[in-house]
Amino acid sequence: MSKLENAIFWSLFYVCTTIFLLVLPPPLVLARMTGPCDNCHTMHNSQDGLVMATAGGESGSSENFFLTRGSCIGCHAMGTANKIELLGNTPVPQVLHVDGSGDLAGGNFAYLLGNKGSGASDAKGHNVIDFINEDELLYAPPGGIVQSGHNIGVIVNDGNLTCAGTNGCHGYRKVSMTYDPLYSGTPGLSGAHHNNVDGKCDVATTASNSYRFLTGVKGYENQTDKWQNVSSSSHNEYFGQATPIQLGCSTGNTSCHATSAGVSPPDNTMSQFCASCHGNFHTLTTVTSSGIGSSFTSPFIRHPTDVALPASGEYASYTSYNIDAPVARTLVPDAASSAVTPGSDVVMCLSCHAAHATDFPDMLRWDYDLMKANDPSSPSNSGCFVCHTTKDD
Ligand code: HEC
Ligand code: HEC
Ligand code: HEC
Ligand code: HEC
Ligand code: HEC
Repeated sequence: MSKLENAIFWSLFYVCTTIFLLVLPPPLVLARMTGPCDNCHTMHNSQDGLVMATAGGESGSSENFFLTRGSCIGCHAMGTANKIELLGNTPVPQVLHVDGSGDLAGGNFAYLLGNKGSGASDAKGHNVIDFINEDELLYAPPGGIVQSGHNIGVIVNDGNLTCAGTNGCHGYRKVSMTYDPLYSGTPGLSGAHHNNVDGKCDVATTASNSYRFLTGVKGYENQTDKWQNVSSSSHNEYFGQATPIQLGCSTGNTSCHATSAGVSPPDNTMSQFCASCHGNFHTLTTVTSSGIGSSFTSPFIRHPTDVALPASGEYASYTSYNIDAPVARTLVPDAASSAVTPGSDVVMCLSCHAAHATDFPDMLRWDYDLMKANDPSSPSNSGCFVCHTTKDD
């Protein structure tokens, strides 16, 4: 090759390499919501003189803040036979439906209402006021730490529990924010949908980069079967810690859950998130709480959460992930794993409960009445026996 040919060859080589590198797809970090705007928005709430937003409007009207065509329940609780519905061509996860093929990971509010399952019962889940009346038995969240008037129902109770915002679970839960879940001075979910981070959520500083818009909660969102736990290899991964913290709001407590960023779990775990309302069921004992006991070793005074399964005894036999009693991981993984490692994986609230509603009392994942000690008729690979592997023998 002449000098000129040589120079041309190398220039072409560099140009081609650069083009090749430029056209390589970027690594998949975000898989944001897609679809034409009018799948979800209406500009004037009018088309051919007809109302465009009919799916559950704000405060009883058919208009929604952010010009959406529905409210939370309008888009997410359509009540059809599909656990994932379409808005135009955009898939929307459903939390209230009669799909016989199963429910999404959070459960299904249809069990509370009786549209699905063995009949309506307040005890089957969280009585979210958007579609059900108050819980007949419960007012405040059971286990709430009574501190400066909160958690005896002053802030959240069965009469105001809602999807998002101060009295809800999703989004930004600022104390003293007004009721509206989509809009107020500091909107509960504003911006979350368009910035939704899928897959690994290990930042958890905003609603959008937290697990399922639960601000401050880390986790891994199933990418194989979106929004679902379907098998030992296809499921969400929950985040936990091997030691629960002391949660409360005064002297002697190491962490308060209410910060300038709103109410969120200080250690980013799923169980601490539940404990932001049900504090005593999770925290180590403090001056203002009875908690699960004063240390994270047995004996406990309430069933522990955010405690590792011992790598010995009956717990050592739980080695294959069971979606009937899932464990949490102390590091957010890059993908779902079908292995369970006693000694490091932890028990959490969602090992026994669902988040929305189930067909069983106390929102349990299974029928507690079937768990009988040393009884061969007990379901051996279900419920309590998934971890307490010898108690049914
Ligand atoms: C699949 C449903 C969906 C589609 C498609 C969609 N949006 Fe949205 N958008 C929402 C929802 C739900 C909210 C309100 C809740 C939130 O902010 O998380 C919202 C909020 C917004 C907001 C206010 C909050 C923010 O993120 O800035 C703007 C602006 C917006 N959308 C513009 C658009 C435009 C422009 C399009 C089309 C290019 C579009 N949207 C398409 C669902 C959708
Ligand atoms: C206009 C329809 C619409 C409205 C209104 C709406 N959503 Fe959504 N929502 C969607 C769609 C579409 C998705 C799927 C997003 C995706 O694939 O990233 C979604 C996803 C979600 C998710 C799952 C996020 C994840 O990590 O996968 C949650 C939680 C959620 N919405 C909660 C709410 C709450 C709470 C409200 C009311 C404050 C609300 N949504 C209002 C359309 C809507
Ligand atoms: C924003 C506050 C709040 C958060 C966060 C919260 N709960 Fe609740 N929970 C309540 C309230 C209020 C009640 C009582 C009213 C009702 O049952 O709807 C309740 C009731 C319950 C019940 C009893 C249901 C019944 O009717 O017998 C269970 C079980 C439960 N919660 C579990 C959980 C779990 C698990 C989590 C975390 C995934 C969680 N909660 C997160 C407020 C909350
Ligand atoms: C995901 C696993 C898991 C599930 C499911 C589970 N447990 Fe446990 N359980 C544990 C762990 C971990 C401990 C603490 C072990 C230790 O540190 O000694 C524990 C401890 C206990 C203890 C002893 C507490 C003490 O003071 O030592 C009892 C009693 C108990 N569990 C009952 C139950 C019952 C009843 C069920 C079903 C409703 C159940 N567990 C479901 C993991 C589980
Ligand atoms: C080992 C399984 C297990 C774990 C883990 C667990 N629960 Fe429960 N929970 C139960 C069972 C079983 C009941 C039914 C009442 C009983 O047997 O004590 C119950 C009842 C409840 C109730 C209703 C209490 C009432 O007074 O009616 C609430 C609220 C609750 N759990 C919340 C939580 C929260 C929050 C966590 C995590 C911090 C959690 N649970 C962890 C098994 C569990």
